[in-house]
Amino acid sequence: MKNIVITGGAGFIGSHVVRLFVNKYPEYNIINIDKLTYAGNLANLKDIENKPNYKFVKMDICNFDAFYQLMQDEKVDGIIHLAAESHVDRSIKDPFTFAHTNVMGTLSLLQAARLYWESLPEKYDKKRFYHISTDEVYGALEITAPAGIEAPFSTKATSGCYHEAYGKEFFSETTRYNPHSPYSASKASSDHFVRAYHDTYGMPTIVTNCSNNYGPYQFPEKLIPLFINNIRHRKSLPVYGKGENVRDWLYVEDHARAIDTIFHNGKIAETYNIGGFNEWKNIDLIKVLIKTVDRLLGREEGEDMNLITYVTDRLGHDMRYAIDSRKLQMELGWEPSLQFEEGIENTVKWYLENQEWIDDIISGDYEKYYEEMYDD
Ligand code: NAD
Ligand code: TYD
Repeated sequence: MKNIVITGGAGFIGSHVVRLFVNKYPEYNIINIDKLTYAGNLANLKDIENKPNYKFVKMDICNFDAFYQLMQDEKVDGIIHLAAESHVDRSIKDPFTFAHTNVMGTLSLLQAARLYWESLPEKYDKKRFYHISTDEVYGALEITAPAGIEAPFSTKATSGCYHEAYGKEFFSETTRYNPHSPYSASKASSDHFVRAYHDTYGMPTIVTNCSNNYGPYQFPEKLIPLFINNIRHRKSLPVYGKGENVRDWLYVEDHARAIDTIFHNGKIAETYNIGGFNEWKNIDLIKVLIKTVDRLLGREEGEDMNLITYVTDRLGHDMRYAIDSRKLQMELGWEPSLQFEEGIENTVKWYLENQEWIDDIISGDYEKYYEEMYDD
């Protein structure tokens, strides 16, 4: 493979994947296609934007004609598909946009890729369509233990990751799909279309389902960057419900490394779950964030605990996500590289040192700038 499209490369995870591929594989042509919605920000890629093996194309994944043309012009061999509407709260307010982008957009890419690859003499040989999905398609798990219990399995000792869990059940690759939010329902539907293109047309597809990511360049509507910024500015922290919900957090660069490993070595038609065995109750995580921000700003550690404000719960709020990623660890040798404490420290430092990045987003300046630059 040589010519690789990464969709959604101006977003949070996509920008880390683009950066990794552009720096690690100078022999590839990396084509980042992104519509630059509110969540897309080319400032995320400033450090690699002038590299000779990188190109940005502003495109809506729902535009079948434009993408089919791009497949032909760029002789695309591989697609790593991350573009999506990704925020659960927005999906509750506006489910149609999620169905349109996540389902129809994915279908449009699949069909364009199919028509182009089937027109080649070698057909699907050395081609790959890799779809990035979420653990939220599996629904929600129960919390069956009041505090962390030992997980029935652990990551390799070297990873030093958190080995406790809030229940004995985990999402595995065979867990039945049971999405609850419009976001997860749209992602589930797109996953089914990807698998259908393998089963029906023989397209070489792979699907991965990952747990919650955190790290630099995450849009400040998601829990971790929103709360870091609010603590800095001493704004209240809206904790949904009782703050008891559990999420399994993975550092974004570890996700990007997993995507690299799976794109190159994963088996066609397989599913891999990606997660860090790192479960946290929201309220416990929020307390760690408060202490870390306070310490790094020279405040008394914990003095901003009074910012915690319990608010009305999210509709249909999934209680617990927990990923069993043993298949990926055992078959492909991937494991998370960072301890959570280290990942959170890096993340908080990054947001505090890059206040301008957040300020530009909040002021809307970056959207105006790209509208002028890229709109027809
Ligand atoms: P994000 O919202 O930060 O970025 C999404 C990107 O997609 C943005 O750059 C946006 O401009 C682009 N985009 C949206 N609609 C588009 C369209 N119609 N055409 C072209 N581009 C479009 O999202 P993220 O958090 O980086 O997530 C990326 C992918 O990973 C998504 O598919 C998401 O479902 C999946 N995922 C995310 C997480 C997480 O914790 N963030 C966890 C597991 C899986
Ligand atoms: P989020 O970052 O939106 O990710 P997801 O919903 O995909 O897991 O939210 C993480 C958790 O934090 C989730 O349980 C909802 C909760 N949350 C709050 O309590 N307050 C907030 O303001 C936000 C954005 C999230």
